[in-house]
This record gives sequence, C-alpha cells and structure tokens, in this order.
Amino acid sequence: MTYPKTDYMYKRRSIRSFRKDPISDDNLNFILSSGLSAPSGEGIHPLELIVIKNDELKKKIKSFYEWAGFCTQSPVSVLVCYDSDKIFAAGYDNDDLGKLDAAACIENMLLRATELGVATCWTHAMENQEDYRKLLNIPKNIVPVALVVMGYSDIPFSAKDQFDKNKIHNDRW
Ligand SMILES: Cc1cc2nc3c(=O)[nH]c(=O)nc-3n(C[C@H](O)[C@H](O)[C@H](O)COP(=O)(O)O)c2cc1C
Repeated sequence: MTYPKTDYMYKRRSIRSFRKDPISDDNLNFILSSGLSAPSGEGIHPLELIVIKNDELKKKIKSFYEWAGFCTQSPVSVLVCYDSDKIFAAGYDNDDLGKLDAAACIENMLLRATELGVATCWTHAMENQEDYRKLLNIPKNIVPVALVVMGYSDIPFSAKDQFDKNKIHNDRW
C-alpha cells in the first residue's frame, strides 16, 4: 500500500539551507502552540521554549556546535528545554520524562511547520547544554534538548515514505 506523498507527514525533511525571509508571528506562534500541545508524561508539562532570532547569538551557537551552524542562515530557531525540577518534584528519581516530552513537542513543531511550508531541522543540544546555558542565561534546572532551526528552504527537497514492513512485528518479535 502506498500513502499520499502530498501529506505533510512525508514532506517533512531536515533542511539545512535557508532563505532569510522571516516567519510571520502568526505562523511562528502556531508552530510553538502546536509544540506545547503535545502529550506530557503525567501531565507535568515541564517544557520551556527559547525563541532565538538574534544574529550574534546564532553566530555563537555556530561557534560551539557546527552541526547547528546553519541556524545563522535561518530567521528563527527554537531551543526546546524542560524544567527538571518539575519532574523531580513529581517524585521521579530521574528526568527522562522531560526528554520524551521534548521529543513529542519537537515533532509536533516540525510537522506543523511543514504544513505551513516552513522548513526545519532538529539539531541536538544535549551535548552542549552548558554552552547553551552560558549563552542564554539558562538556569541549572532547565535542560536544553534540541535547537529546532526553521525558515524557508532555498533548496528543492522531496517527500519520502520510510515504511518497511520488516520493521513491523505482529504479536511477537
Ligand atoms: C535526535 C536527533 C538529533 C539530530 N541532530 C541533528 C544535528 O545536530 N544536526 C543536523 O544537521 N541534523 C540533526 N538531526 C536530523 C537528522 O540528521 C535527520 O533527521 C536524518 O538525517 C534523516 O533525515 P530527514 O529528517 O530528512 O528524514 C537530528 C535528528 C534527531 C531526531
């Protein structure tokens, strides 16, 4: 069975080359609101989003994490973080829930952006948590997970369907 490649789920691709055109506040807020509408383990809702538009900050991000360096070309990036204090306060002895919540939020944002014609790339932030904390004045209990880079693609890209029936297991492995 094939699924429609026009569906935005399949059209989402990681894009690393952008035009400078801004994303309208309406579209950006729709993307952020979609992210924060994701499910949250135990309804703790520990996520915090930092919207980054400042060019100097983007250059500094590029200097400590080359794999997000293309954020200097895009109009806006969103650092997705969670508040570990909220998770520990709920009785957990680790903050894994925050990472899961962040991933759900990120994917919601990527898909909403794709629907709006905005290209994105999820970039890893967990190995540069201290760099992000220092750069953006982030307190210790706030944990950066990913920088979502977004803008309008300046390269053509195509939809893909990665369905592989060998990865589906029915009832048993
Ligand atoms: C957890 C995670 C971390 C990622 N980190 C980066 C990154 O730091 N830099 C980057 O350019 N792409 C990053 N990506 C994007 C992947 O490289 C990309 O999703 C993968 O190559 C598949 O391509 P597609 O998104 O176009 O399907 C990351 C994706 C995920 C899910």
